Amino acid sequence: MEQKNYQRTTVTAALPYANGGVHIGHLAGVYVPADIYVRYLRLKNQDVIFIGGSDEHGVPITIRARKEGVTPQDIVDRYHSMIKKSFEDFGISFDIYSRTTSKTHHQLASDFFRKLYEEGKLLEKETEQYYDEEAKQFLADRYITGECPHCHNEGAYGDQCEKCGRDLSPTELLHPRSTISGSSPVLKKTKNWYLPLNEYQEWLKTWILEGHQEWRSNVYGQCKSWLDLDLQPRAMTRDLDWGIPVPVEGADGKVLYVWFDAPIGYISNTKELLPDSWEQWWKAPDTRLIHFIGKDNIVFHCIVFPVMLKAHGGYILPENVPANEFLNLEDDKISTSKNWAVWLHEYLVDFPGKQDVLRYVLTANAPETKDNNFTWKDFQERNNNELVAVYGNFVNRALQLTKKYFNGIVPACGELLEADRQALNELKEVKTKVESLLDVFKFRDAQKEAMNLARIGNRYITECEPWKVWKTDPKRVETILYISLQLVAHLSIAFEPFLPFSSAKLRRMLNLDRFNWDELSNTEILKPGYQLAEPELLFEKIEDETIEAQRQKLEATKRANEEAAYRAKEIKPVIDFSDFEKLDLRVGHIKACEKVKKANKLLKFTLDDGSGTDRTIVSGIAKFYEPEELIGKDVLFIANLAPRKLMGIESQGMILSAEDFNGDLSVTSLLRKVKPGSQVG
Ligand code: 2FM
Ligand code: ZN
Repeated sequence: MEQKNYQRTTVTAALPYANGGVHIGHLAGVYVPADIYVRYLRLKNQDVIFIGGSDEHGVPITIRARKEGVTPQDIVDRYHSMIKKSFEDFGISFDIYSRTTSKTHHQLASDFFRKLYEEGKLLEKETEQYYDEEAKQFLADRYITGECPHCHNEGAYGDQCEKCGRDLSPTELLHPRSTISGSSPVLKKTKNWYLPLNEYQEWLKTWILEGHQEWRSNVYGQCKSWLDLDLQPRAMTRDLDWGIPVPVEGADGKVLYVWFDAPIGYISNTKELLPDSWEQWWKAPDTRLIHFIGKDNIVFHCIVFPVMLKAHGGYILPENVPANEFLNLEDDKISTSKNWAVWLHEYLVDFPGKQDVLRYVLTANAPETKDNNFTWKDFQERNNNELVAVYGNFVNRALQLTKKYFNGIVPACGELLEADRQALNELKEVKTKVESLLDVFKFRDAQKEAMNLARIGNRYITECEPWKVWKTDPKRVETILYISLQLVAHLSIAFEPFLPFSSAKLRRMLNLDRFNWDELSNTEILKPGYQLAEPELLFEKIEDETIEAQRQKLEATKRANEEAAYRAKEIKPVIDFSDFEKLDLRVGHIKACEKVKKANKLLKFTLDDGSGTDRTIVSGIAKFYEPEELIGKDVLFIANLAPRKLMGIESQGMILSAEDFNGDLSVTSLLRKVKPGSQVG
């Protein structure tokens, strides 16, 4: 791989849709790694800009607005501020966090499209799309529901069936309906403009498959599977009323496809930040462009956007796209609609000031090469056993001992023993170790190396036992603490990209104002005679009750979802009265009831059904009732259900019970006494 001599780096982080808050999945997948990388480059005094912003167009935003009865602008205003604040709270250090509804962006995206159009780089194609004649508008795929042709789920969407997970196109749906008016949509001709990805396939193959074999295997692999198939032209405009109007004649009622305008948002936001010099960050060949994204965005950043840039001309292409896989929460997929997530704004209410704990845990579990899992137990363990017991503990030991023996003044270094030399050697290695990992986007391993330095510190101080040596050889203690303090200072720098809040706190304790990455090769960051500030605890233990409360919160969410799913069960298709009349429902008096041996779910009933002959019914309610509770009660049963054998006993009918949303069964009974055998209807 040819090594280019880059002068500056443009770092972008995926623009989140402004239709919801930010959760741990977003943070782990995109924003924490991007922030670590940018902080690292800044510490190295490199020229870097970090571009972020909200993605404020697209169908999900219009759907949300319609549901709430407000305008799309109301939705994006609300969530843009909320998202921006969450990023600020967690120290995601964007140089700009703007939005795709900005004027600068509308102008730039429009110009970009117009240039492609005027230069004949786009295909004009007429297709048939579903149209809602009542609402007088074309329907985006998500606005159409119908029956899935594969699993016959009646609530499938025009782009996907959520029951069987298959991708669909709207015309595949059986009995399609518009979610706007409920009417059956009709197919109507419409014109749109397409990016001919197929014309760029060979170029993409050379650029990615040959030129970027160093990309993460998940990213490279996904690109390869796209490029192994024939790429198709992709529509860059949509019939929709929310977005950037298509800037050409005859395109009324059409807007730019959200995936056309969103990545241009990176450029517009740079322009907003640096109106005079933005082009250098996007056009100069000695600028390196890096996109941080989640795996669902790979095709757009590695194929669609580069083709747009190439077709336009004059722009640089991404040098790397370190995409992450997904993070699960307590073994389940994070889902905004099911509220199965840890939301950043809620986290900060429950864990004020503990941004770095979350940053640490999310990096330690970063889904860099495969999906990963966040659990509250692991969160607690990593906090208590690593941040508190290793990093915090070492810092506290070194600072407290310096305070106790030397009034917080850095002592001088005396003669070095083997243990000292070893500690200093390990300290010297940390820079190269962390660097070599960060340079190739291995954030998880890089953070481990930083933590390893704290482990080394703890081992060193434990082995040297300054508290014992003090009585016999105080000079020796000076050297031990001198070295320990250098380790602490190194930690404050090495951890800065990962845990910026704690590093700032630690620097305050050390009175350290000089810090940049190169200091890591300096074995005397703190000079003898230097006065340290008052030590404080860097991290604190998280108790079991706190974790239990979070688990309970998730449990409550799970129950609420189950209940909602139960309530959403559709009423079965309408039946005629004659169908109902076929059922013979009667009242039965329970004469006897007993457990069925070897079947822990079943109870066997002997009913007086009014006929003079006892009737036997076996029912699966043993988990919910003791036999004695039911003897003597009157219940409803189906008298004409075909008999069937359960555990060798012939059951002659069915006792009616109601099933609660959580699966609990309750036997039906009557408000007044009636004779056994009375008919119900
Ligand atoms: O997947 C998403 O959340 C998109 N809003 C990401 C857009 S990234 C870029 F293209 F702006
Ligand atoms: Zn299906």
